[in-house]
Amino acid sequence: MAQRVVSSRRASRSEPARPTVALVTGKAALRRALDQARAAGRTVGLVPTMGALHDGHAALIRRAATECDVVAVTVFVNPLQFHRPDDLAAYPRNLDGDVAVAAAAGARLVFAPTGTEMYGAGAQVRVHLAGLADRLEGAARPGHFDGVATVCTKLFGLAGLCRAYFGEKDFQQVAVVRRLVQDLDLPVEIVACPTVRDGDGLALSSRNALLTPHERDAAPALHQALRLGVARVAAGERDPAAIAAAVAAALGTEPRFRLDRVDMVDADTLEAPGGRTTRLRILAAAHLGRVRLIDNLGVEI
Ligand code: PAJ
Repeated sequence: MAQRVVSSRRASRSEPARPTVALVTGKAALRRALDQARAAGRTVGLVPTMGALHDGHAALIRRAATECDVVAVTVFVNPLQFHRPDDLAAYPRNLDGDVAVAAAAGARLVFAPTGTEMYGAGAQVRVHLAGLADRLEGAARPGHFDGVATVCTKLFGLAGLCRAYFGEKDFQQVAVVRRLVQDLDLPVEIVACPTVRDGDGLALSSRNALLTPHERDAAPALHQALRLGVARVAAGERDPAAIAAAVAAALGTEPRFRLDRVDMVDADTLEAPGGRTTRLRILAAAHLGRVRLIDNLGVEI
């Protein structure tokens, strides 16, 4: 039995029931549900996730629900995109909570396959983007974007014609999936959504749950350092090395952080900025305890 229907709870009798969400674990059931939706004239929105859903994910789901008739959220902690086994083992998992968040945000379907259902035995194909996958985050996490590209190709193949919603928090990932659908002619329109932050500026992330309270106190320093970099660009600084040094120095005032990298790139190409660059993106990654956090900000010039 690959499908379960979960009705989100009613707080009181007077409050109207929220729509139900179908939990499917089989690939065939996902394909059938979305084929049926399109056959009935409905548009499909897809929100791929690894679960442990928070308000950042919910914002993608809500946006999808305003722009599409049927929204499917996928919850799959994709082993292919983890290059450290301890990171995969520690990744937070909470399917019941995810179903509740997805339902409340307007999803009609949650697809949560097992690893065996997703990849089966003897899978041989890996999707590799020559260039984009090996730079920036890809250099820091070898194989990561191959894993992302492979699972997204499979999810797009299962979902069929749809809009797929991704967060700018993972800025390079958006570029990877755009390139994927362009080069492979997949029937998917990628929609990029702004980063959702806590009140103190920390970008929401499933990994934030792994921070100790002491580390959580330090975490907004990453966003603050990026803001300082943006302010330097706004003040006229154009030298990527000087911006990176300013961001690194700002983060250096928070001793609990260990900076991994800072990059200033052309936001459209993710290459080094050139004479024609008008939109810059500053990307940073840093370790806080055993958690590696990433964040980025844009600036127009
Ligand atoms: P995950 O980290 O669960 O994120 C799922 C989606 O939510 C991604 O598009 C991510 O950019 C977006 N997201 C996460 N935090 C956000 C925030 N604070 N604001 C806005 N959007 C946010 O990214 C992945 O999973 C995986 O790589 C995946 C694409 C599902 C492939 O396995």
